[in-house]
Formats: sequence, C-alpha cells, structure tokens
Amino acid sequence: MGAFVAKVAATNVVTPVPMSCVAGSGVFQWNQSTRIVWTGSVIDRTIMEAAFADCALPVNLSPGAKAKKNVIRLERVDALPFPTTSDEAYRLSVTDRDICIQAVSDAGLYYGIRTLLQLADAEQGRVPATLVEDAPRFPYRGVMLDVSRHFRSKEFVKKQIDLMAAYKMNRLHLHLTDAAGWRLQIDRYPRLTELAAWRDAPVWKDWWEGTRHYCEQQDPKADGGYYTKADIKEILEHARRHCITVIPEIEMPSHSEEVLTAYPELSCTHEPYKQADFCVGNEKTFEFLENVLKEVIDLFPSQYIHIGGDEAGKASWKTCPLCQQRMKDEGLKDVNELQSYLIRRIEKFLNANGRDLLGWDEILEGGLAPNATVMSWRGVDGGLKAIRAGHHAIMTPGEFCYLDGYQDAPYSQPEAIGGYLPLEKVYGYDPIPASFTPEEASLLLGVQGNVWTEYIPTAEHLEYMLYPRAIALAEVGWSQPRNKSWESFRSRVVEKVLPDMRAKGYHPFDITKEIGNRKEALQPIEHLALGKKVTYLAPYWTNYPANGAETLTDGLRGGWNYNDRRWLGFVTDKRVDVVIDLEKETTIHSVGADFMQICGPDVWFPCKVVISASTDGEHYTTLTEIDQEVKKDDEVSFKNFGWKGETKARYVRYQSFPDPKRGGVHFVDEIVIQ
Ligand code: ACM
Repeated sequence: MGAFVAKVAATNVVTPVPMSCVAGSGVFQWNQSTRIVWTGSVIDRTIMEAAFADCALPVNLSPGAKAKKNVIRLERVDALPFPTTSDEAYRLSVTDRDICIQAVSDAGLYYGIRTLLQLADAEQGRVPATLVEDAPRFPYRGVMLDVSRHFRSKEFVKKQIDLMAAYKMNRLHLHLTDAAGWRLQIDRYPRLTELAAWRDAPVWKDWWEGTRHYCEQQDPKADGGYYTKADIKEILEHARRHCITVIPEIEMPSHSEEVLTAYPELSCTHEPYKQADFCVGNEKTFEFLENVLKEVIDLFPSQYIHIGGDEAGKASWKTCPLCQQRMKDEGLKDVNELQSYLIRRIEKFLNANGRDLLGWDEILEGGLAPNATVMSWRGVDGGLKAIRAGHHAIMTPGEFCYLDGYQDAPYSQPEAIGGYLPLEKVYGYDPIPASFTPEEASLLLGVQGNVWTEYIPTAEHLEYMLYPRAIALAEVGWSQPRNKSWESFRSRVVEKVLPDMRAKGYHPFDITKEIGNRKEALQPIEHLALGKKVTYLAPYWTNYPANGAETLTDGLRGGWNYNDRRWLGFVTDKRVDVVIDLEKETTIHSVGADFMQICGPDVWFPCKVVISASTDGEHYTTLTEIDQEVKKDDEVSFKNFGWKGETKARYVRYQSFPDPKRGGVHFVDEIVIQ
C-alpha cells in the first residue's frame, strides 16, 4: 500500500482523490481527430454530452464508430475487474494509443470522464498514461441549499449542479420551504406562491428584525420568488444529465410560519403571523400536507422526500383542544409523541406512494417512524442512534458540515451566522466512528454540506460560502481515508480547483489568504489557576459543556467559535459565578477572563463583572466591579474583563451579570490568574 499511496501523491491531480491511481508510461495525445466512441444503446448520450460539456478539448462524439486508434472508448460492462459494490465505480485506462472508460452504469462512465478531464492538459491535449480504479466511499454525497431565506434562480441552481458533479457529488437537497418564503408552485394551494413566497424586505436580516410580514406578489415591495413546475423540470433534467438526484424538502410540523399565514386554519389558533407549527389535531393539516406531497412526488423522481421535522416549538399543541384530543385518542403521552404521530402518518403516505421519508434528527423524538432515514445535524448522536436501531443515516453535523459559519477570522469575513469552520476542519471529518461494525457502517449513507442562507443575501456570497469547503466534503464523501492528505488536498485546491472555478465564473473563498484561528487558541497558557478546582455557584450550560468543569482552568483558550469545546456556556440567571481554589494563599497580580459576543445567536457580553478574593473561603473582599454598556453590533467580538493589582488570596470568585435587556448566553474560555 505504501508504494501505491506514493503514486497517488505523485499524481496529485484528481479531486476527489481516486481509490487507486497508477502512472504508466507514455502520453495519449488528444487532438482534432480523437473520436469518443461507444457501442450499444444503453449509454445515454445526454449524460455523455453533459460529462464533456465544459471540456476545452475537441469533443467528437461518435457512438458506433469502429476506430481502434486515437479513441476514447466508453464501455458499459456487467462487472469491473476490481472488487466494488458501488454502481458508480469506474475504471479509466489511458495508454499512448487509446483511452478506455468502463463502468456498470452511466453514472460510472460520467465519473470516469470527469476524472479524465482533470488528468488531461486542457491546452496541449496531453493525457499521461494512467490506470485509475475508482469507487466512492459513500453512496450519498450531498449539498443542501436553503433557497427559502434568500431565493436563488434556477440558473444559479444549475450552475451549482455543474460544479458539484465535476467533483462527483450526487445529491442536491433543496430546502424549499421555511418562514422566510415558500419556493415551489403547488397548484392546489395558490396562496403559497401568491403570498407566502414574497416579503417586504429583500434581505432576510432586515425582514427578520423588521415586520416578518409577507406581501402579495403584485405589491411593489414584494421580494422573493418561487420555482414553477417548469423551472423544477428544467433543474431536474439538468441534474439527471449530471447524475445528481434532487431531494425536495417540505418542512413540517414547524418552520411553517409562511404556510400558516397563507392558510391560518391549519394552525392551532387559526391566526396569521402567530404560529410556526401545524396543528396536528386537525385533519385538514394532513389533507394539506398529503396534497402538497402528492404534487411534490409527481414532480420529483427522488426516492427520498425530506420532510424537515426540526426545531418544532410544540407549545401551542399543549393547549390546543384538537391536539389534546388527538393525544387522548391515540394514547400519546406527550407532544414529542404527537410530533412522531404526524411523522409516522406522513411516512405511511410516502411509502404508499413508493417513496421514503428523510428528516432531521428531531424525528427521533417520540419514536422514529419505522422506515425513516435520519439526517443528523445536531452532532452525530442522532445518526448513530438511528443506525443502531437499524435505520439509515446521513451525516451533516454542524461542527463539520454547516457551511454557513465563518470560514476564516470573523473580522476578515462578511457577516455570518457565527461558528468557525475552516477548510481543514471540514476536510478532516470522518463520518464513520472507529467503534462502528461493518454492518453499522453500511447503514451510514454518506455526508452533506448544508448552507443556510439567513446571512447570505447574494448568489456570489453563497458561492463564497460553498467553495472550496463543499469540495472538501466531496473528498470526504468519495475518497478512502487512507488516500486522503490535507497537504495534497490543499495544494490541489490552490493549484487547480480554485483557478478552474474562477475561470468558470464561480466566486470561491481564496484559501491562500487564510488568516486562521484566533491566536489565543493556538497554544496553551500557563497561569496560577491552571489545573485548579473550580466550584460552580451557578451551573454551566450543559448544551455547551466544552471540557466540563475543568474548562475554565485547563489552559486552553477559545477560538472564533463558541462551539469549539473551549468556550463554556452560562445561561442561568446569575451567569458566571465560580470560585477557584488556588489550594494555598498566593500572591496574585491579575485575574481576567475573555468573553465572546455575537448578537445573532444571542451571545452577549456581560453588563457587569465582579471579582473578589478570600483567604478563608468565607469572607471575600471585592477586587473590582466592572460596569459596561452592552451594545448590539454585527461583529464577533472578544473582550477581557479583569483586575490588576496585588493581593494575597487562596480563593478567587468571578461573577458576571447579564444585561436584563439582552438576556442570552455568556461564554468564557479560561479564568487566567497571574
Ligand atoms: C437545522 O439546522 N435546523 C436542520
């Protein structure tokens, strides 16, 4: 294997890196007389044309031609001469005489062609003799585009399909419905596109902080849009030619403010602009959802229909007479089981129509529907739980797959929803835990990058967030871990992927200008409290436990993201209230802690910090009280709240207080005592 890996590294050309790639001797010269031939009618010409669509070299498609020399032969075969269970696998052989691509499916041929186009020198037409035997690690390699928060044109969607397919991604998940706008023509329910697809502010943030109102399509203020059925058919045909399956997502039971304003009778209170959750007690809800899904099924050939399922508040169900009646009738013990009732019923409907249900990991709550596949986003636990129960799962954990977070130092980037997910971290993701059995691994279908667009108002910006991070996920999804190398990937991205993308009119992030993580996070810090015991007079927030009780004195400072397991969250009323025991009376000269502020996700600086010290643990002397005004801004900011002086103490108490007008969470990485 060592020699083989060296050859792969030597090629250092193809992305995602193939399973096996062995250099031969000689060069194939691709020129005006080169014929691309195949025999038999099973090869779909439109797919072959799509595979060569952006080829700069002469493309003479000559199916049936008998040429023996100077040919590129495409062969659909019954089996490949190497072990693989994937029907997307291919074998590409380049000699100085000819090129032959073999596969058991047109998708395999398509991928063989895409590899060939990466190997070929686009100017000189020289293709080095090579034998590639290749198959994907996972059958599902996806990207999710949120076209609700900011609508994107069908041309934009087709453009992203071209790029995804070039890097062998095969699933495009469209988040078509959400509070911010309904994006799909449904004949039976015209108000979804007359009203719920349009809002009075083009930029989501202005709208969300403003009226959150919809408007009629004819309204001069109306901004938004939707895909007609003809648009979708055009997208689907384009995707089919590029071997991509488009998976539609129709959100339920929550994230449905727009539906429940267009059709308020489907909510518990029957009032527009009041509810995000469908009324599950009302039969009309099921009539609506099934009628919508029927049109969706008629339009989209995808085996999976994504039904959302995330982040339901479920509050109105607790007091709604119809929901309460439903729970009684069905013997449901809580609102989680009521959600599960809806999901199971919808699954039955989809299964009866020959389709499978896919949903966010909240569909596990209250019991998973019998045949459902889970898309794991709140970490990987949901996916693991589903797999251990014998279900399929797709991994999209926020920590590695949410491409809406900052990809570099926030101060250098356009405003994002938060987070910090640099290219190297995406690339380093391995979806299969070491503890998995081969059987469990086979239930893990693959990975997907998600781009939520709350803070991404333009098409260019969306490409900037997608690329090159989506390409890292393409390699996570396709390549064998033994063949992966961050150094090789980064150099392929810099030398080839980014220049190619720019030449084709995409707008990727320039990884060569990357600043990197917060400098404080790069190395541990020594100080007097290092490793000392911390007593929590107010508890930390278990949703953001970082390294647990040791976080504040473990010497590890936080990076740009409060989710990096360095920042400890505090959400209960008093916020930070801790005592550090230095174990013996010690002369100290400073006490300080950094806080992070990012207002979008409700992370705020404190309005007051009190630091006090004690020699006996009972009587405390205040060292400092710091008051400051908490100001809202669009930045990710860091601020140290501390004291300097000289005193003797064994115990140090650190307290922070929230601005009552702001609430939110406090995040602290380390309490540094010098
Ligand atoms: C999600 O991010 N709410 C699936």
